[in-house]
Amino acid sequence: MHTSEKQQRLQQLTRQFLQVNSVDFGNVEDLREVLRYHEWRYYVLNEPLISDFEYDHLFKRLQAFEQTNPLMVTPDSPTQRVGSDLTKVFPPAVHTTPMMSLDNSYSEQDLLDWDRRVRGFLPGEAVAYSVEPKFDGSSIALVYEADRMVRGATRGDGTTGEDVTPNVRVINSVPLRAFFSALGIHKAEVRGEIMINKERFRRQNEQRMEEGLPVLANPRNAAAGSMRMQDAIEVARRGLGAYIYQLGYAAGKDGKTLFGKSITSHHAAIDALSGLGFKTPKDEIKLCTTIDEVLAYCREWEAKRDSYPYEIDGMVIKVDLFDQQERCGRTSHHPRWAIAFKFKARQATTRLVGIEYQVGRTGAVTPVAKLEPVGIGGVTVSSVSLFNEDVVREKDLMIGDRVLVERAGDVIPYIVKSVAEERSGSEVPIAFPRHCPSCSSELVRPEGEAVWRCVNIACPAQAVERIIHFVSKGAMDVDGLGDKLVRRLFDEGVLTDVASLYKVDWEPIKAW
Ligand code: IVH
Repeated sequence: MHTSEKQQRLQQLTRQFLQVNSVDFGNVEDLREVLRYHEWRYYVLNEPLISDFEYDHLFKRLQAFEQTNPLMVTPDSPTQRVGSDLTKVFPPAVHTTPMMSLDNSYSEQDLLDWDRRVRGFLPGEAVAYSVEPKFDGSSIALVYEADRMVRGATRGDGTTGEDVTPNVRVINSVPLRAFFSALGIHKAEVRGEIMINKERFRRQNEQRMEEGLPVLANPRNAAAGSMRMQDAIEVARRGLGAYIYQLGYAAGKDGKTLFGKSITSHHAAIDALSGLGFKTPKDEIKLCTTIDEVLAYCREWEAKRDSYPYEIDGMVIKVDLFDQQERCGRTSHHPRWAIAFKFKARQATTRLVGIEYQVGRTGAVTPVAKLEPVGIGGVTVSSVSLFNEDVVREKDLMIGDRVLVERAGDVIPYIVKSVAEERSGSEVPIAFPRHCPSCSSELVRPEGEAVWRCVNIACPAQAVERIIHFVSKGAMDVDGLGDKLVRRLFDEGVLTDVASLYKVDWEPIKAW
């Protein structure tokens, strides 16, 4: 997208716009270009060059100019990302070519067999495989015409998806304009995955819990759900990103495909797309010439998946050359030139044996599912939070149910669903308590909230949680005073509230 010369020019323009206070008909497009450049630095490269404050300042100046000159507003202006569009229905969107799914391999043997089949289609030829992460989000197809993003659609059934353009426009790593014409491309469709950063997801859920809103089950659901939301402003708040992993269609003005002509390979297409400003797995892609090399790279990623900021559930191996892809062909479901190598499942089924209700420091009562212990990805899981009553209802859980549990990386384990087909009739419905399990006072559920609360300020469960919070790492960080000890001191009557921490004679306790 940006040569270093162009970047230098944009940096210079940035300084001019920051210093000289005039936007006019002659330079407004420069200002837009400057803002697009800094969006790209920030959202695609993660290497901002100006502060958020400076960006906001420039953005507001553009906004002010456009407000006084509404006829000058262009649809690809950075100000046009967050519209107030309230889309009630998402119209159908027919994909330029079907969005196929991938064949899966779960073992080394599956992969070796696939390699043999591929080589069988390409006898005597050298084959290069392009290997990249399999992003676990929600798939999206973006159409560009004459360098402008004209449509964003979900995958749907592969042939027809839903037109979610207003929601896609607010994703900052999606360029609203991309200079495809420089590559001779008039119409293009790029495909990728809408993702939410794991850390961002965790923080959002914490906030939602505090606000009493229903929590989002996992990053994938959060991304998929966001795409179908009716309020683009709320979508913008979710901080989504789009990883573009495929050029699905590219044609010149004459409508003829450019595949195998000016663009000859997957990795070159990805490089070109990065050059146009898209967020791609460019740095994660490795070209391999043997299946052993492919396997080693897959294993390397499996080992580091938890430290990757996005959820990935495997690797995708693609024959790199388009011409060779074409000759491998496809079945009715999936291409023969690509395969997914799935990482070890981090799901397991077990039995829900009971529910415990925990009272937090703010009085929120959280149902916690007690499970028959089950190993998932090297960790034994025996209890998982169900967050609130609505989650229990949505998942249609009953005590005695067989449940599917997932533990995705550093995301806390959660119940995906109950396996209702396996019910015997002896399962017991879950009755959410109406009284505090600690102090028996009546619980209240404030209007619009999903959480039941104990509002008794003297509630002992809340008191002990408040002390634990007070001495915790993020607060006073009191050395040697962990959860267990606080609970014990509280049960023995040594601690009664936060103030009591300062009145205790610690000498005899040291010997405990
Ligand atoms: S290539 C025809 N590459 O996996 C194959 N897909 O089961 C085109 N996915 O729905 C797909 N990461 O949304 C490809 N690096 C990646 C991917 C990827 C995730 C998803 C994609 C698709 C599903 C296929």
